[in-house]
Formats: sequence, structure tokens, C-alpha cells
Amino acid sequence: MKAIVVTDEAAGTPGMTLTERPEPTATINDAIVRVHASGFVPTELTWPSTWTDRRGRDRRPSIPGHELAGVVTALGYGTTGVTVGQRVLGLADWYRDGSLAEFVAIEARNLAPLPGDVDFTVGASLPISGLTAWQGLFDHGRLQAGQSILAHGAAGAVGSMVTQLAREAGAYVIGTGRAADRRQALDFGAHEFVDLDNDALEDVGGVDLVFDVIGGDIQKRSARLIRTGGTLVTVVGPTEVRPADGLTIDFVVESDRTQLREIVQRVRDGRLRTNIGAVATLDDAVAALNPTERRTGKTIVRTQP
Ligand SMILES: NC(=O)c1ccc[n+]([C@@H]2O[C@H](COP(=O)([O-])OP(=O)(O)OC[C@H]3O[C@@H](n4cnc5c(N)ncnc54)[C@H](OP(=O)(O)O)[C@@H]3O)[C@@H](O)[C@H]2O)c1
Repeated sequence: MKAIVVTDEAAGTPGMTLTERPEPTATINDAIVRVHASGFVPTELTWPSTWTDRRGRDRRPSIPGHELAGVVTALGYGTTGVTVGQRVLGLADWYRDGSLAEFVAIEARNLAPLPGDVDFTVGASLPISGLTAWQGLFDHGRLQAGQSILAHGAAGAVGSMVTQLAREAGAYVIGTGRAADRRQALDFGAHEFVDLDNDALEDVGGVDLVFDVIGGDIQKRSARLIRTGGTLVTVVGPTEVRPADGLTIDFVVESDRTQLREIVQRVRDGRLRTNIGAVATLDDAVAALNPTERRTGKTIVRTQP
């Protein structure tokens, strides 16, 4: 099958190459999915899981891309929950070959049904950003109606989901980002916008929840804005930063079929808009994943026409 592989950790996304790899086989509880569309998070190439298996053994050449939409073509022994021919979307195991390929082997529990009226391209854009936003807001951030949230990178892939889901949940949403992102962040539902390059973050006053996708100094300054009992949720790695009287939670997104269904349903009924920047074919994927200009939104690779 055709697949994008990486072999050189230091090379970053320019080190991706399109090549031929053997088709995966299904082991216990696996499904094989013919990938129609795949997402990709550029920071994947800095994660240990891209380069080793769970025992730390080198697993190069590694196929990146861990969110996908496609059709189930085969099932491993004992696999339940999905059927051959079913349209699905899902979040693949970080430590296994991913979805920038024509086929992927994935545990069936990491898949959810993709209804016929949701395009594969849209489906592939939802698992990582949708589940990250959902879990950060509701599982870890315990967001309640009437609370206020600072949604960093509100025009980005995760931030645009955070903004929409928080707004729908009845929160007051302060989006942040670059000056050029103001319109988009407000369109996604932010009540106000802070341009991190030109506005004073401190002027927003107190908030109940910070959803951090940036880290560094922005994360530190944001933690100081958190009210008593509030929470800093971050997805950019382990952190020592703590609000004076609140909690910090850093987490890595997990697959969850029920949450994926909720996210897909919101897309179907128009409550949630996905944020797709560019769509490329597998043949053009390496160039598309190494843009020369700034892009907002997710790049989706179509592996089937
Ligand atoms: N832990 C997890 O489970 C998990 C899951 C998903 C994503 N993530 C991480 O979350 C981060 C965001 O992912 P994403 O897919 O949402 O990326 P994205 O689409 O690039 O969104 C990030 C947004 O924040 C903006 N931004 C970043 N630094 C900024 C700064 N200093 N000032 C103003 N705006 C800034 C970006 O603008 P520019 O493009 O101009 O910088 C972009 O609009 C990545 O580091 C990713 O690895 C973690």
C-alpha cells in the first residue's frame, strides 16, 4: 500500500516520504480500515510514541497520522462493535502505525460510526481536535454554564472546537490568538478576543478555566488569571505551572466512542463546525504538510478520491 513514512527524528515534517509499505494485518480486537481521509498533528513527530513501541523498541519506519475516516475492510479475531463495510472515524494508537496510508490496523474500540451524510474529510478532522476539546472542557475542566473560559488559539484546530463547545455549554468565552485570527475566533463563537501580540492578556480579569494550547509564558500568565477553585487545562505537555488556588491538569487525548458520537451529531445538526485549512491527496501530502505560508485549520489528506 502507499504510505507516508518517517525515519529521521531530527528531520521533522520535511523528512516525510511517500513509499510502499506492506498492508497491515488485523490482530485480536482490531479492525482494518481503508483510510479515505486522515488528519495529522505536526507535533506528532516530536512524540516518543512515533519512534518506539510501548516497550521502547525502535519501530521505524513509522507511519504518522492518528485520526482518520474510512471504511472497515476486515476484522481480527474476537473483534466486535464494528462491521465490515461500515463507515467509521477514529483515533489510532500513538504507538502503532498511523493513518497517512491506504490502510490502518486499529482497535475497534477506537472507532465510532461515521454517518453517511458526513463526508470522510470532515470525519477525519474531528477525532483529535474534537475529543481534546471535549475532554479538556468537560472531563478535566468540569466546565459549567455561566463560567468563563480563556480559550487559547481560538482559531486553531483544537481552540475552535473548544470555543464552540464551551459557548454551547453556556460559558462566557474569551478567545485568543494572532491579530489575523480575531474574525475567525468571533465567528466560532468567542464573546471577545485577545490578540496575544498586541493586547494585554491581564486585562481579561478573572476566569474559571484556561484551556491552554500554547504553553510557555502565555501559560504562566494565564494561570494567574484563574479564580479560586478554577482550573488550568493544558495539552502541550507536563507543566509545573499552578493557579494560586486551583488545579492544573495536563493530559493526552484518548479515544472515546460515546464522545465521538456526540461530536459527530453536533456536526450533523450544525452546532459544531470543523476547521479544515487545506485538503491534499496522499501524493501531495508531504508538500501540504510542509506549508511555506501560515495556515489556520487542519490539513486533511484524502487517501481515496
Ligand atoms: N495533548 C493532547 O492530547 C493534544 C491533542 C491535540 C493537540 N495537542 C497540541 O495542542 C497544540 C495546538 O494544536 P492545534 O492542532 O490546535 O494547532 P493549531 O491548529 O496550529 O492551533 C494553535 C493556534 O494557536 C495559535 N498560537 C500558537 N502560539 C501562539 C502565540 N504565541 N500567540 C498567539 N497565537 C498563538 C496558532 O497560531 P500560529 O499558527 O500563528 O502559531 C494557532 O492559531 C499543539 O501543540 C498540539 O500538539 C495536544
